[in-house]
Amino acid sequence: VTLDYITGYADQISVAPGETIRFMVSARGATAVAADVVRTRCGDRNPAGPGFSETPVVTGIEGRYPVEERHCPAGSYLRAPDSPRLQGLESFTLQVVVWPTLPGRAEQALLGTWSATARRGFVLLLDAQGVATLRLGDGQQVVDLSSGCPLQPRHWYLLAASYDAASGQLTLRQEPLARAADGDVPLDVKRDVRLGPLASTAPFLLAAWQVTPERVGGHYDGKLERPRVADRALSCQEIELLRGDNVPPALAQHLVAAWAFQDEIATTAVPDRSANALHAEAINLPARGMTDSTWRGTDRHWRDAPAQYAAIHFHHDDIYNAGWPATVTLPVPADLPSGLYALRLVAGDLEDRIPFAVRPPRGKATAPIAFLASSATWMAYGNLNPLPFDIAELLSGRLIQLTPANLLIDAHPEWGGSLYDVHADGSGVCYSSRLRPMLNMRPGYISSFGCQGSGLREFNADTHVVDWLDSTGQPYDVVTDEDLHAEGLDLLQRYRVVVTGTHPEYFSTAMLEAVRAWRDEGGRLMVLGGNGFYWRIAYHASLPGVMEVRRSGPAIRTWECQPGEDVQSFDGEIGGLWRHLGKAPQSSVGAGFVAEGFDVSSYYRRSPASRDPRAAFIFDGLEDVEIIGDFGCQGGGAAGVEIDRADLRLGTPAHALILGTSEGHTESYRLVNEEISIAIPNVTGGSNPRIAADLVFFESPGGGAVFNTGSIAWAGSLSHANYANNVARITSNVLRRFLDPSPIVRHRGSGK
Ligand SMILES: [Fe+2]
Repeated sequence: VTLDYITGYADQISVAPGETIRFMVSARGATAVAADVVRTRCGDRNPAGPGFSETPVVTGIEGRYPVEERHCPAGSYLRAPDSPRLQGLESFTLQVVVWPTLPGRAEQALLGTWSATARRGFVLLLDAQGVATLRLGDGQQVVDLSSGCPLQPRHWYLLAASYDAASGQLTLRQEPLARAADGDVPLDVKRDVRLGPLASTAPFLLAAWQVTPERVGGHYDGKLERPRVADRALSCQEIELLRGDNVPPALAQHLVAAWAFQDEIATTAVPDRSANALHAEAINLPARGMTDSTWRGTDRHWRDAPAQYAAIHFHHDDIYNAGWPATVTLPVPADLPSGLYALRLVAGDLEDRIPFAVRPPRGKATAPIAFLASSATWMAYGNLNPLPFDIAELLSGRLIQLTPANLLIDAHPEWGGSLYDVHADGSGVCYSSRLRPMLNMRPGYISSFGCQGSGLREFNADTHVVDWLDSTGQPYDVVTDEDLHAEGLDLLQRYRVVVTGTHPEYFSTAMLEAVRAWRDEGGRLMVLGGNGFYWRIAYHASLPGVMEVRRSGPAIRTWECQPGEDVQSFDGEIGGLWRHLGKAPQSSVGAGFVAEGFDVSSYYRRSPASRDPRAAFIFDGLEDVEIIGDFGCQGGGAAGVEIDRADLRLGTPAHALILGTSEGHTESYRLVNEEISIAIPNVTGGSNPRIAADLVFFESPGGGAVFNTGSIAWAGSLSHANYANNVARITSNVLRRFLDPSPIVRHRGSGK
């Protein structure tokens, strides 16, 4: 099926007035698009909700732009620098340790100078049946020498191939490093050939080969370890000697390259330890910090045992940067107010909106409130689709309705998956970039993992918060997770109140430490979401727009790191849940994740603690209210989708007021794994009393405070009855008091 579309991405998620943002567009079924900028007000198309709303903004870029379909060059690989030492080799030995994950998927290049179009050069590869093969070509004739026996998936092998140009002899060795697989024995094959010069103009690549000068192909799935190149045919003994990390002096003069995958893990550089210093570059973010064939399970960090982490895991569906040319370049007007915006693209029936935040001018705030847009969460979920996600219907408790965006995501795996997806080879997607189309990060997108009614999550659910902020008339700035990561406490100190989105799930160490420090020096934080402050992430030190997560349990997770691979490659920090890293969400914001369910939401019942004078301002005008939020467009209630609870053992401050607790959740709501230490029968709503959202308030040192709704659905109730309802009233009451500069202090003798 070919589907027409317009899509694209921006080079930034957050841009300041006076700066420039570029939009890269691809289209099928259209040769030109009309473009303009809109301010995004609400992306909810549910007629029962506040209504889809956006405001065109005159920026000077309005007009028609030619577009064409662009190729997205997915597939990770390494590129060695151009050098006659590699490309001019006549006799050689290539050797590498491999752990293939999809042998037999297609021909997969391991290393060499092969040009698939010129049919020249040499390459060690796995053929279409997964058989190790040495291929040589002189531009006329192509010769293959194959081991004759396919590699077993997820088993380690040493592969070594040599060519002696003088004698014309080819050799190939395929040696399983563990002999568990039936019939898997070392194989040595030889063949004599007559070929002209192999000199290739194609670059020396690992895990891919050149197709044309503009395009690579032949991508490999799996791990590679300790690749070596020598300038003559080596003996078996010499090959054995080169397997280690120390180059035997007798072989040093024949060693052309020996890439050390355990070096410079946090960068895109792959150092060559040979005298030639032919340092390679990693393209499209193959997974680094991976255990190699020598990993003993005695160390879990690549810094502690680098020699056991000399592997890189490549995927044919890795993508960092689609690399399309800019279609629209927007110099952001110096007077454009901070807010959530989108580039709107229309061609006939086709349309798309590429969102971006306009932050306040650098170093300044233009309002006392900051909306902290959860750009990390948006990226983490980027392109999550119900289609390949085979438990989507079980989780949602209903049949999934596919949208055109779902079909497009499914038809374009080269646009890359979310951090919830697995690669084609079953390994987890641990890096997500925003330099590629993300079709669910859009106003108007309906998610299969939202509740009945509007069915919104992530980016689009956050427009409910924006819509409500607009309804209050209060001026606010929009800043993103990336701004918070880069500027930390300085950014937060410019604001009196920070309002989060509906799902502030992903926090780097810098982000979390900044929020906690600001909270403790008088900051006022309104968490209008659930499943907050949950996973640690890393941003890359030099590559913009990409984040990393290492999923390990117990936790709600759709994949699990391989043993020994839970350390973030971008920064060397241990990955996982903040709960397992000593900073459970309860210790940051009073409540933390306990359950999720994607059918309907529920309401909160007010607690006796909510009558504490400390909470009087929150319930101003609601003194007689007992039930909060038994309405809303996200499942019909304010408590739902993903819900969080207070827990003193996990760090909820002892003085925190639990203002209300939700009840009556459905069987679709199931306790999260980290709450279950032994397998119990009552893990669903209705049978497990832990399954509830807590509405939490507590004062922090320095006159600050935290208000946390503990629920993704909360924001979907704000617009009910034209914003005149108890959810909106509570939220507005909190905002009003939090904006008042007088310290929020817990008076002695008040409450507990
Ligand atoms: Fe989540």
